[in-house]
Amino acid sequence: MKSNTYFINTVIASALMTSTNALTECETFKKNTTHIAPFYNEHYPFSLEDLPYKYNALEPYIDEKTMETHHTKHHKTYIDNLNNILKDYPKLHQKTLFELLSQIDSYPTDIKTGLRNNAGGHFNHSLFWRVIKPGGSPISKDLALQITKNFGSFEAFQDKFNHCAKSLFGSGWVWLVTNPKGDLSIITTNNQDNPLSKRLTPILCLDVWEHAYYLKYQNRRGDYIKEFWHIINWEQIERYYKQAIQKS
Ligand SMILES: [Fe+2]
Repeated sequence: MKSNTYFINTVIASALMTSTNALTECETFKKNTTHIAPFYNEHYPFSLEDLPYKYNALEPYIDEKTMETHHTKHHKTYIDNLNNILKDYPKLHQKTLFELLSQIDSYPTDIKTGLRNNAGGHFNHSLFWRVIKPGGSPISKDLALQITKNFGSFEAFQDKFNHCAKSLFGSGWVWLVTNPKGDLSIITTNNQDNPLSKRLTPILCLDVWEHAYYLKYQNRRGDYIKEFWHIINWEQIERYYKQAIQKS
């Protein structure tokens, strides 16, 4: 009996410890993520913000018509759909975009898929507009060193990112993500899924849906990916990285 009690207590203690660790991890993740950019903390009703540059400013790498359509039609549609879904769920009106996405499995079944696609679409595009800029910006030695440390060399990182982007079947996104320790990795997600549900913080993303490149590149996704490297906003990405690995 004594040994049974000991076993049960050990199991309970272990479960409590796991739960506490999970909570700590969750809180750390939340803290390390929500302050990265204001849009993480937006809540219903969501709205489309202006881009920090003109639609033609990313020429010749991404053309004006693509940028305008992508922003005013595709991104806006995700926001409109998200607001439509949430309008009948007042309990969710104070949930931030981050909370909606990181707790997606806890929401009612009838709206889960819609939330996942449209909150995801809003989040993913909001990040994408910020990690690109006209002319791009140079990568710092520190961040280049971190990338080399994680991938072997900057070229190896680029090759892997390009390969993931080219080989992603159908529509989706490629991400450079970090965990709170600063370990970098590249992941892909289908449709409008994103790394938040995997408890990873995205610091760079590339939209490989056809709507992101078809007007200029048609089926040549590889050409679009190659030109993407000319407009990456490394200064912003480094800010995201440093904030994501900040400890308490
Ligand atoms: Fe898109």
